[in-house]
Amino acid sequence: MHEVTHETRNNLPPTLVAEFTELCTHYPERRAALIPALHRCQEELGGWLSPETLEAVAGFFELEPVEVFGVASFYPMFHLRPRGKHLVSVCHNISCDLRGAQDILDEACKASGCTPGGTSDDGRFTLVRVECQGACTSAPMLALDGVYHEGITPEDVHRILGGVQ
Ligand code: FES
Repeated sequence: MHEVTHETRNNLPPTLVAEFTELCTHYPERRAALIPALHRCQEELGGWLSPETLEAVAGFFELEPVEVFGVASFYPMFHLRPRGKHLVSVCHNISCDLRGAQDILDEACKASGCTPGGTSDDGRFTLVRVECQGACTSAPMLALDGVYHEGITPEDVHRILGGVQ
């Protein structure tokens, strides 16, 4: 088992340590709080999960760092590299695909200056292809910073992405 030291725990901000300590009381097993804790780390620590953050989280949850990395790398909502200020998510499953997701993605690449999975040179956008975002009835769609834009056309993409700083 990963050695939990005072030092390892201290690599997380005290506010997150306090939050996670309370969070763990809601679950029968401490590790069940891992995913919500990773979300909170990503929100609070720059929008991504650095190797140091993953190690600190592992220390808190008394897990091996590789276990935490395995969880964080499995879910596309976790970012293991620095990301742009705004996150653009385009899904590619069958509903959106049949209704023009590739055209949406192509326009999102042009409008954001990103390649899929990449971050624009100016740091404004990160563009990701993701699994179905649960809005198939109004496909195609994209999410900008978690806000859904549904039933869109490629022309809409420029307006949507052009509306953020
Ligand atoms: S495939 Fe895009 S919302 Fe389901």
